[in-house]
Amino acid sequence: MTGIQGVLNGNFNLLEKIKVSPLSRAYTFSDSVYEVIPFFNNNFIAFNDHIKRLKKSCDSLSININLEEVKLEILELFDRKDFLDGYIYYQISRGVDEIRSHMHDDNIRSERFGYIKDHNFETQHLSVMIFDDLRWGRCDIKTTSLLGNVQTMNEARKNGCDEIIMHKDNILTEAGASNIFFVIDNRVFTPSLSNNILPGITRQLLIEIMHENSIELSEGKFNISELKKSSCIWLCSSTKGLAPVCEIKNLDVELDVDNKVFLKCKNLFASRFLSRS
Ligand code: PDD
Repeated sequence: MTGIQGVLNGNFNLLEKIKVSPLSRAYTFSDSVYEVIPFFNNNFIAFNDHIKRLKKSCDSLSININLEEVKLEILELFDRKDFLDGYIYYQISRGVDEIRSHMHDDNIRSERFGYIKDHNFETQHLSVMIFDDLRWGRCDIKTTSLLGNVQTMNEARKNGCDEIIMHKDNILTEAGASNIFFVIDNRVFTPSLSNNILPGITRQLLIEIMHENSIELSEGKFNISELKKSSCIWLCSSTKGLAPVCEIKNLDVELDVDNKVFLKCKNLFASRFLSRS
């Protein structure tokens, strides 16, 4: 018994009571997109940005949705909670097929599923490993097709790690479920967006904060040798906030989780989005 509030196609119920069809294309093909929308102290963090990205993901895969219906469902889930900090997981699949078929009916009705969960936003220190990025060529779309991430993250877990950092042909992409930033000589670097990187909302919020506060940032193509020169690396996402990496198990690099540029970014982010006042 989890007691978690959920919704399927407008029907609200406890998560454990929600039943989906095995012919949902989310189940047979991972033909679905999703968002994780965080809230802290009863306030959504960047609600509109998450809705915008959800719409963009649907448009990229030609999944039809009624955005107003989606927003109302998410807000209704939010109203049903009895805690202050957490997130909403919300997924839209292309729909349920009559029988499994790669090619779908154009008139198929999309299927909406979501739940709301409490979450602790305290800063984590992460042990990570570097892996080859095995994923498909459109990681900029937030789909539930995450086997590359799942495969490598669980490989890392066997080695006591919490996350992974991925590279494609030596070019850094992102982490398993977050984006990456690193510091060399007090300057911050992050891979620029491409088809191989999810445009993280936290990444974008942080970049805006850095610009406003004149913190030097370079976006570009970087490789593993640049990570070796870093004094600090952090990962960011809606659920992690900004989380410093304390070790990379398969790379010889000394990292400072109390690096002053990192702490400045973390404190600025926390005072804007993770504050009780
Ligand atoms: N993951 N890159 C990947 C591959 C991700 O899965 C995520 C988020 C991010 C960061 O995006 P954002 O800042 O918008 O959360 C980057 C979510 C939290 C998840 O799948 O649980």
